[in-house]
This record gives sequence, structure tokens and C-alpha cells, in this order.
Amino acid sequence: MRKIGVVGIGHVGVTVAHIIIAQGLADEIVLVDKNPEKLASEELDFRDAASLLDHHVEVHAGTVTDLTDAEVVISALGHIELIKPGGDRFTELKANTPEVQQVGSDLKQAGFNGVLIVISNPVDVITGIYQKATGLPANQVFGTGTYLDTARLKRALGDTLAIDPRGISGYMLGEHGDSQFAAWSTVNALGKNADELVKLYDINLDKVAEAARVGGFTVFAGKKYTNFAIAHAAVSLAKLVLSNARREAIVSHYDERFEGYISTPAIIGRDGVTAEFDLQLTDEEKILLQKSANAIAEKTAAYL
Ligand code: 2OP
Repeated sequence: MRKIGVVGIGHVGVTVAHIIIAQGLADEIVLVDKNPEKLASEELDFRDAASLLDHHVEVHAGTVTDLTDAEVVISALGHIELIKPGGDRFTELKANTPEVQQVGSDLKQAGFNGVLIVISNPVDVITGIYQKATGLPANQVFGTGTYLDTARLKRALGDTLAIDPRGISGYMLGEHGDSQFAAWSTVNALGKNADELVKLYDINLDKVAEAARVGGFTVFAGKKYTNFAIAHAAVSLAKLVLSNARREAIVSHYDERFEGYISTPAIIGRDGVTAEFDLQLTDEEKILLQKSANAIAEKTAAYL
């Protein structure tokens, strides 16, 4: 039985749940939220939807104690109402921390030993708080991090080249926030590296990277939250875990070089981060990655 838990059924959590249910990724999905009315109504709405699907799925409203035997739990809890246009995801840190510590401790109490995928922001710091509160091995707790921003980079570059972004490779690295950067040395499209793309198509790499870096706030400006891209990012990572894909992904995970959670390359499989791999970053990119790790640490102190 493939069982997934989704904690926090706001815009993001309900979209995560909908993708999982619609794609038939789980035989059972447990929805957890602190608002009982919302939880009951979402459960009922999803169960009505389930009667129209081609596959069977059990949808339950529950609590963290129901997640003991889940293979994957996705944390989408948060306080998006605190975020200002063009602001910083760290604005949620103080409000999210106690709730995350409680959910983490409840997961530990329930004996959960699966993989915890964290969306809750500021995701790099919150993922570390979850790891401590659950007591799970670090590899079993990772955040969506710049996996989402990498998708935005591919979309922005795809728009510039008028090609499907899925054919583009490369990474945004670092904080899921202002200090993230495009590691252009890793980017390839149409069989060409970034320098060749600039020469051949006269593209502005800084403009493309900035479009990715602020992409979340560009969406936020119009609808006061984001949900579709982040939900698909989390669900595609859950698929890698459930299928033991052992596929590379840039996720926020514990990186001992920086003694903290940050998005650097990892291999994702049944046990979460099953391995890491190094990129041949340029000296400038290595400095940017260190700066991003410093920014996460500095903002943690400032916002807590
Ligand atoms: C985003 O950038 C929710 O932080 C997430 O869309």
C-alpha cells in the first residue's frame, strides 16, 4: 500500500493532494490540518472526486498519528499571509517554527520512519528544524529547495529559446530565496553550453537567471500565493522516493560543507537523499554557493 501524508491543506497542500490523487500516486492519502472544518470539507470534496477516477484511492482526514506507516509525508504548512510582495520567505520563520516543531515531534511520537519532503518556508531552515524534531536520519528529511527554482530557470530559458524547458539541463543552487544563483556552468540546451547559447542566440543570462530567482514573487504579486509549480515539484520528488528512482535532483538537504541545509546536488531514492554528487563549479560559482549558505545562517539569526 503506497501511503502519503500531506500536512497543511492550504493552497499548496490541497494542490499537492490533488496531483497525488489525480495521478494515482498513492493507494491512501491522509490529509492533516489544524482547521477541522477545512479538513473535513477537503476530504469530502476529494472523496466525491475519487468516485469519478479510473483508479481507487482512499482519502482520509486525519492527524499526524495516522502517518506512522506512510512512505512519504509532505509538509506544506505555512503562513503565506505574512509574506509581503517582493518580500522574503524568512518572514514565515517565526510563525512556522513552533508548528513545525510540534508536527516533527508528533511524527517522532508516531514512529514515522519514511521520507519527509518539506515545502514549508523558509524551506532550508525549516527542513533542518524538522530533521531535529523528528530525529530522523538527515537523509530522510529534505526540502524542495531550488528544485523549484531550477524549473523556473528552465522555463525562463525555454521561453528565451522558444523550446520546451524539459529539454534543458542545469541548476539553480543555494538558498530557496534571494541568494540563490544560476550555475551556468551546469546549463545545457540544444547540445550547447551557456557560453555557446549566448554567442549563437544573443541571450542575456543575467535576465534569465533573475526571472527564475524572483519567479515565485512574480506569481505571488498577482495571486498572493503560489501553488501549482511548488506542488508539482514536491510530487515529482515524492515519485522519485516511491519508485526508488535514484535520480539526481537539486534539493535542500544537509550539506556538511556548510553545516546546514542548502540546495546542492543529490541522488533521490527510497531512503530520501541516497547519495550526493559534485558539480564542477567555477570558482565564482563556489563563492556564490558559500555566500548563499552564509545568507541562510545570517537571516536565520535575524528572523528568529
Ligand atoms: C515558491 O517559490 C512556495 O517558496 C515557494 O513558490
